[in-house]
Amino acid sequence: MSELMGNLRRTKMCGEFTLSDVGSEATVMGWVQRRRNLGSLIFVDLRDKTGIVQIVFDDTTESELFKKAQGVRSEYVLAVKGKVRERESKTDKIKTGAIEILASEMRILAEADVTPFEINDEVSVNDSLRLKYRYLDLRRPSLQRNLFIRNEITKAARRYFDRNGFTEIETPMLGKSTPEGARDYLVPSRVHPGEFYALPQSPQLYKQLLMIAGFDRYYQIARCFRDEDLRANRQPEFTQIDVEMSFVEEPEDVMYPIEGLIKDIFSSAIGLDLGEGHFRKMTYREAMENYGSDKPDTRFGLKIVDCSDVFKNSAFKVFTDALAIEIGPIRGSVRAINAKGLADKFSRKDLDAVVEYAKTLGAKGLCWCSWQKGNPPKSSFAKFITEEEIEKLKAVTGYEEGDALFIAADKDYVVFNTLGGIRLMLAGKFGLVNKDEYDVLWITEFPMFEWSEEENRFMAVHHPFTAPMDEDLDKVETEPDKARAKAYDLVINGQEAGGGSIRIHSRDIQRKMFKILGFSEQDIQSKFGFFVDAFNYGAPPHGGLAFGLDRLTMLLAKDDSIRDVIAFPKVQNASCLMCEAPSRVEEKQLCELSIKIDEKEA
Ligand code: AMO
Repeated sequence: MSELMGNLRRTKMCGEFTLSDVGSEATVMGWVQRRRNLGSLIFVDLRDKTGIVQIVFDDTTESELFKKAQGVRSEYVLAVKGKVRERESKTDKIKTGAIEILASEMRILAEADVTPFEINDEVSVNDSLRLKYRYLDLRRPSLQRNLFIRNEITKAARRYFDRNGFTEIETPMLGKSTPEGARDYLVPSRVHPGEFYALPQSPQLYKQLLMIAGFDRYYQIARCFRDEDLRANRQPEFTQIDVEMSFVEEPEDVMYPIEGLIKDIFSSAIGLDLGEGHFRKMTYREAMENYGSDKPDTRFGLKIVDCSDVFKNSAFKVFTDALAIEIGPIRGSVRAINAKGLADKFSRKDLDAVVEYAKTLGAKGLCWCSWQKGNPPKSSFAKFITEEEIEKLKAVTGYEEGDALFIAADKDYVVFNTLGGIRLMLAGKFGLVNKDEYDVLWITEFPMFEWSEEENRFMAVHHPFTAPMDEDLDKVETEPDKARAKAYDLVINGQEAGGGSIRIHSRDIQRKMFKILGFSEQDIQSKFGFFVDAFNYGAPPHGGLAFGLDRLTMLLAKDDSIRDVIAFPKVQNASCLMCEAPSRVEEKQLCELSIKIDEKEA
């Protein structure tokens, strides 16, 4: 026992008191949330990770103690001993609102300066300030709750894996660049001047090698690093719940056990029993055509409808030009969203704003039709549309009085991205999503490849180790754009929570894959010779997936920002406002690493 605490030993956490404790002696420790001075009484709200308890100092009981309590300020750290009593005026705002502790002894364990912002969930504080003093920000109950949920998720995952024969194995942080798509974070080697390690974008190659090594079922709560543009659900450094299994050949062999894991996580972390109706399977194509996204939020409608047929002989060049597109395997189309019953909510200005929004999503423009109740229908391309086309459009989209239609015409992927984005925007604007609902969905049958217009070649949609569907094996070489993969994503409320695939375990197919992706023999050997060679020594069929732990936590905590579920996150430009990383290093350190900084660039 430290001298500071004297004979005081904590008996209970602040948030744990109930009426059944009335009459008992208790010692609590924590931070002062606030102090109110009422003349002959001082009230102190004492806070720890479990909640708040009210302490009362009464000047009639102990005047020395009362004087000491007068000097107490917000965020002081105290140890207080006293008797638990029932409150006269109870409150249900805090868990312990039925009781209070009448102090008989108090020690100030640490004083505190005035904090740069109030430690309170109700107070809105500038983000940069919060992140600079992250250790203070983390005192807020909402952030603590998020990290407790995160902890429950990893605990539940470990229990599940343990019960189901998985072994937790650590893989290196200092490795070789893996072809995962994003830019690598590099670490210079001192002993190999001019050479670099790459921090793992994911443990993909290692976990496959562990299957070849015979571990059968692997998992790891793995830290990953990707130097990519940050968004609300991305961090340069994030955590995956990473899984790989041997002797699995079909996506369901992995998906089914993972459903058990997700159910356990939901019930352990937030007490929610994911009942019937979850884990529906939707093909990639269905997702794109109906929702314009491979991570659709299916908690609301506003589905996309293909109107290409309606306009195949149109006089409107925007439509016919789109329908004529043929770039490699890329085609064009005309598609629409019917905002049913919402026409009255769109003024002309609002409609223009949707068009502007579409442009931010990559569209060159957007057409609209609006039929407000009791008014004649209007449209942005009225001059170019025939009566017959209007009738067909009505039949295809269900357009009628009261509706607003938004129509995009371009390359398919631009149309999907535009209408998919508008769909989400409309749902947000009109509150179409029930935030209390969870929708857990598998997206399957991803294409193996997508055509890169920039590079004029096919790229792997998932990664180059993903197996094609058995029935599409022949297409891999003959019609790569039509070959589907044994890949799957788990989508929760419109966010990609996880993704994986059955892997290629045949040397021949792996070589074919590399060839289509444009890797030369030399590339293959230098980039992943060690990996390809391993397949010469008996690779079992295997597959797996990885969840974004941070994203999963965000979803379960119902928080919109990934920063709120990470103890010490980075900001948009990948820096840490608290410790000010990245930072310059000593000249001596650079020398040791044989590195010179180009000051013009720096
Ligand atoms: P993938 O790249 O899809 O697959 O990543 C798996 C999951 O990791 C999460 N994630 C991220 N979370 C936060 N910030 C980021 N920058 C970030 N990037 C990805 C997502 C995603 O679903 N090796 C494969 C998995 C496999 O095939 O087994 C992989 O890494 O939730």
